[in-house]
Amino acid sequence: MKIICANFKMNLLKEDILNYLEIIDNKIPKDRVIFFPNELYINYFKNQNYLVGSQNISYLENGSLTGDTSILSLKEVGINYTLIGHSERREFYNDSKYVNKKIALAIKNNVIPILCVGETKLEHEEKKTIDVIKKELDEALKEQTNLTNDNLIIAYEPIWSIGTSITPSNNSIDTTLLEIKTYIKKQYNLNPKVLYGGSVSLKNIDTLEALKNHDGYLIGTASLDANNFLSLINKVK
Ligand code: 13P
Repeated sequence: MKIICANFKMNLLKEDILNYLEIIDNKIPKDRVIFFPNELYINYFKNQNYLVGSQNISYLENGSLTGDTSILSLKEVGINYTLIGHSERREFYNDSKYVNKKIALAIKNNVIPILCVGETKLEHEEKKTIDVIKKELDEALKEQTNLTNDNLIIAYEPIWSIGTSITPSNNSIDTTLLEIKTYIKKQYNLNPKVLYGGSVSLKNIDTLEALKNHDGYLIGTASLDANNFLSLINKVK
C-alpha cells in the first residue's frame, strides 16, 4: 500500500481549506494519505480524522527562538509526521545544518520524520546524484539512536523537478531509489519506505505507477485542488 503525502507549502487560506475538506469528504483513504497544510490549519484536517504532519519543526523543543514552532505544540494539534529538510527549507533557511537535530527530536517525540533528499539539475547532469544524497543521508542519520524501519520515511525529490513539470525518466528515478535503499540498508541496517516527489501530477501518475522501487509520493502543486487530488489518488495502487 503506497503512502501519499500532500504538501500544501504556503498555499490555501482558511476558506480554501474548508472547501477542500468539503470536497474530499470521506473519499480519501484515511490510512495512507497524509496532509501537510500550513500549521495553522492542521487541526481542521485532524478534526476529521485525517493523518496530518507539519512541513517543518524547530530544532529545539522550546526556548528563545522567535517565529519557530516546537514539535511539542505541533503534537498538541495532532501531528504524527513531519517533513524534515525539504529543499526549499534547505535553500532559504539553511536547514541542512539542522536536519540531524530535527530527526532526533522527531524520533524522541514519536513523530515520524519524512527526510527529503535530492540533487540540483547541475548535480544530476554531472552524475553526482547519489553522492549528494548519501551526504544528505549521512548528515541526517549519523549517530541517531532508535531509528527503525517504521519510524523513518525518506522522500527523494530531485530539486530540478519540484514545481517545474519536469520529471526524471522512470529508469533514472528507479535507479536512485534503489541506490538510496541499498545505501541505507548497508550503512544503517534500515529498510525505510522511500517516496518520490517532484511534479507528480494527473498527467504522469500512470507512468510513475510503473516505478519498481517506490513506496509512495510526496505531492505539492497537484494536491492543492481537491478534485484534482482525488482523481490522482484514485490512480495510485
Ligand atoms: P511539486 O509537486 O509542486 O513539484 O512539489 C513537490 C514538493 O516539493 C513536495 O514536497
